[in-house]
Amino acid sequence: MKEKTPNQSLTINTEVVLPNDTNHVGNLFGGKLMQWIDLTAAVAAQRHCGRVVVTASVNQVSFDKPIKQNSVITMEAKVSRAFTSSMEVFVDVFVEDPVTLIKTKCNEAILTFVAVDQNGSPLPVPALLPETEQEKKRFDGALRRKQLSLILAGRMKPSDANELKSIFF
Ligand SMILES: CC(C)(COP(=O)(O)OP(=O)(O)OC[C@H]1O[C@@H](n2cnc3c(N)ncnc32)[C@H](O)[C@@H]1OP(=O)(O)O)[C@@H](O)C(=O)NCCC(=O)NCCS
Repeated sequence: MKEKTPNQSLTINTEVVLPNDTNHVGNLFGGKLMQWIDLTAAVAAQRHCGRVVVTASVNQVSFDKPIKQNSVITMEAKVSRAFTSSMEVFVDVFVEDPVTLIKTKCNEAILTFVAVDQNGSPLPVPALLPETEQEKKRFDGALRRKQLSLILAGRMKPSDANELKSIFF
């Protein structure tokens, strides 16, 4: 399989925060944002591998700033590393000022998707070739995050997580 660059999976999704998307204090409901993030990231993973994908894990979601009703938000997702059948996807979330059109980053999320066949069994995916400094940094940290996610899911023994241990010892 031919390797691909992160840009080949770039997926941009723009949404307007409507009254139905907000919580009791008028900010975007966290679960709604997670739904949009999951969908945007899934499309990026599908663009990378050309297969149907399923969400295996939500590794990190940070809600750094409240997002007000009527805000225009943009989610930018790219595959940050591909393993055998799984792919890590980063999603950067921006809020756009309706007057100046300046975009400010307000959230970040990291998810893992797995390419599957019609029976739900994992399939191999193309490798990822990072190009920019940020893409290389995200690529380098992905194995540590994968090992942490597998430990938390009870799928890996901490003693086997050599890459993760290397940042402590
Ligand atoms: C994700 C899923 C396909 C994995 O299937 P499996 O039979 O356990 O397959 P494996 O153990 O071989 O894992 C496949 C890959 O997923 C990775 N993986 C599985 N769980 C993971 C987790 N919690 N965090 C990170 N990676 C994970 C494995 O490391 C492996 O990666 P690799 O092939 O790149 O090395 C399966 O668990 C599944 O279908 N889950 C439900 C998915 C779903 O319905 N999502 C929607 C949310 S409700």
